[in-house]
Amino acid sequence: MKHDVQMALLDRMVELRKRGRDQRANGGISHLSLDPYTNQEILDRELETVFSDCPFVAGHVDRVRKPGQYMLSDWNHQPYVVVRGNDGVLRAFMNTCRHRGAPLVERERDEPLRAFVCPFHGWTYGLDGALSGMPCAFAFPGINKQDLGLKELPVTESTGLVWVHPKEDGPLAPIEDLGCFSEDFEHFALDRYVRYKKTVTEKKANWKLLIQLNLEGYHVAAVHRNTLAKGYGGFLDHDAEGAHLRILAAKAHLMDSVRMPKEETNLLDFVQLLYFLFPNTIIIINEHAFSMLRFFPVAPDRTLYSYELVYLPDRYGGESGQQSLRNRFIYGGVVIGDEDFAMAEKVQRNLHNGVNDTHMLGQEEQLVLFFHESVNKWIGSGPSGQGTR
Ligand code: FES
Ligand SMILES: [Fe+2]
Repeated sequence: MKHDVQMALLDRMVELRKRGRDQRANGGISHLSLDPYTNQEILDRELETVFSDCPFVAGHVDRVRKPGQYMLSDWNHQPYVVVRGNDGVLRAFMNTCRHRGAPLVERERDEPLRAFVCPFHGWTYGLDGALSGMPCAFAFPGINKQDLGLKELPVTESTGLVWVHPKEDGPLAPIEDLGCFSEDFEHFALDRYVRYKKTVTEKKANWKLLIQLNLEGYHVAAVHRNTLAKGYGGFLDHDAEGAHLRILAAKAHLMDSVRMPKEETNLLDFVQLLYFLFPNTIIIINEHAFSMLRFFPVAPDRTLYSYELVYLPDRYGGESGQQSLRNRFIYGGVVIGDEDFAMAEKVQRNLHNGVNDTHMLGQEEQLVLFFHESVNKWIGSGPSGQGTR
């Protein structure tokens, strides 16, 4: 993020604090229907629209820098494989054999691929997706191999992130799509980072319930009372680019920035910065390391959660560097996993007990409504909340 943008955002945060305004709220109190957390038909609609029509972040580019390197989808609903070809071109294919549908690659390994060899009957595809061989080819008289290449999906790399569109002819333009946020990513030079580790676990809560914990700071004092709360300055600010959000969380010592010479001031020293990339990715930016959280619905009350940490290698050299990465990974996992998502799972369990017909959102929680409204625009349903604005 450019320094002048950093300083403008910091000034804005300081002004908000001075005015005693907790958050640039989007309105008054609103009430969210509980159906979007429990209803299978709504999830089906989300899968048909949000998760079929929106480009999404497949991962960090570090996994696919060299020919043969690849990354796999974490989610059976969209089984793709992204691979760097011998010609240096990045391609994405459905990870499904054209003979009888077996998955071609089942596990992400460090060794690069030389070809896709189907484990069922041995059909072979080049890294460009072309069918190059089949055992006992005489058993398939008259077929045209050229018609049997892997199904390709649009893919692009941009500012360190790999983007895929779930439809064969879907438009993919992340730079335009992210607006000024893509400039931020460029300045953070995310493409110079490397992956430390990634974990994928299943959470027993609706995907939106998990994501929205990152869209409000109201829960921090209670849920994170022994961890994040000590360093939290008590309010958020945000900017939107379409359905994407840049969220700034004040750190406790935000006002110390006022005494710093501007040239020496770094936004990240005073503000926790995170991005919500619609529909399902959160990127938390820290100095020299960032975390990527992605959420994939499996059922109305079950979600695959992928957590990945990437870092700048020159800043984490030697054993002490590795130790601090280990700590960062565990801390992120404990804070996010054990505190946030455990609460989401408890809320999910209470959705059916009849106590609440709706969930209430106060002024500090209005980005949750913004998120639900973004989803609803895609699925084409009515307003998700009833406001009192
Ligand atoms: S399903 Fe792949 S070769 Fe038969
Ligand atoms: Fe949280």
